[in-house]
Amino acid sequence: MKVIETISAMRADVQSARAAGKTIGLVPTMGALHAGHVSLIDAARAACDYVIVTIFVNPTQFAPTEDLGAYPRTPEADLAACRGHGADAVFMPGVAEMYPPGALTDVRVRALGERLCGRDRPVHFGGVCTVVAKLFNIVPADKAFFGQKDFQQTVVIKRMAADLNFPVEVVVCPTVREADGLAMSSRNAYLTPAQRRQAPAVYGALQVGREMISRSHPPAREVIEAMRGRLAAQAPEGQIDYVAVVNPDTLDDVETTGGPVAIALAVRLGRARLIDNIVISSQ
Ligand code: PAJ
Repeated sequence: MKVIETISAMRADVQSARAAGKTIGLVPTMGALHAGHVSLIDAARAACDYVIVTIFVNPTQFAPTEDLGAYPRTPEADLAACRGHGADAVFMPGVAEMYPPGALTDVRVRALGERLCGRDRPVHFGGVCTVVAKLFNIVPADKAFFGQKDFQQTVVIKRMAADLNFPVEVVVCPTVREADGLAMSSRNAYLTPAQRRQAPAVYGALQVGREMISRSHPPAREVIEAMRGRLAAQAPEGQIDYVAVVNPDTLDDVETTGGPVAIALAVRLGRARLIDNIVISSQ
């Protein structure tokens, strides 16, 4: 497995794989790899001939008040996980390589990036789109793999890829969870033991929503109310950023739940901001 730190070496490596007729799979990450990330590497390995994992804690997607400095960094373990799951190359650039002084361009997917998490994190999706657009240009891949866990991110990136004509297929892989339902996340490490015991309420609230919708398609506001009730009862330390029932393509709030919907929520528990979602596509 190659470990590559410069854009020029990364481009040369992809070019030679392409010249050999290989299909390219790209897995963008910020490191601190866990089973959720690894599932994306496995999916890329199964679908593509040459698998490239990128590890870059992207500063532009963090607001100054957020956890860029504290974000977990475990490069040795990350490389071992990539090697163990058959990655062909890992791209680990430094910040100056990705953002040399003088850069003035950024990419925004306007309305989609302003809803849900975008309300509480106004710079976030601009940073995500800018870095993912750069990665798509540095690593021209046939398929790029993203996790359903970050549902809004998948919607925004699919829109960006379509709008800017990136010739890449965006593949969305299922959320990997702990045994008690908590979606795996590098930020779960911020939870104290007491908060960790409350954290499964996030997925529990989604289950409440899913059951209500499949039973009787109630108005969205009733679903949201019941989910908030579950969170208040089982995660009393949690501060709810949002609980929403939205159209899975436009991310607009819906009033009724008879059609395809996504239920999404963000809850702050101590230093961790936990997000989760489920999409109910056919009913
Ligand atoms: P990061 O949070 O490291 O996540 C990298 C990828 O792993 C994302 O596609 C994310 O959705 C996926 N992932 C994380 N937890 C998961 C889980 N429990 N199950 C399945 N997939 C999971 O998302 C980012 O990094 C960044 O925003 C990035 C796209 C790399 C741009 O900087």
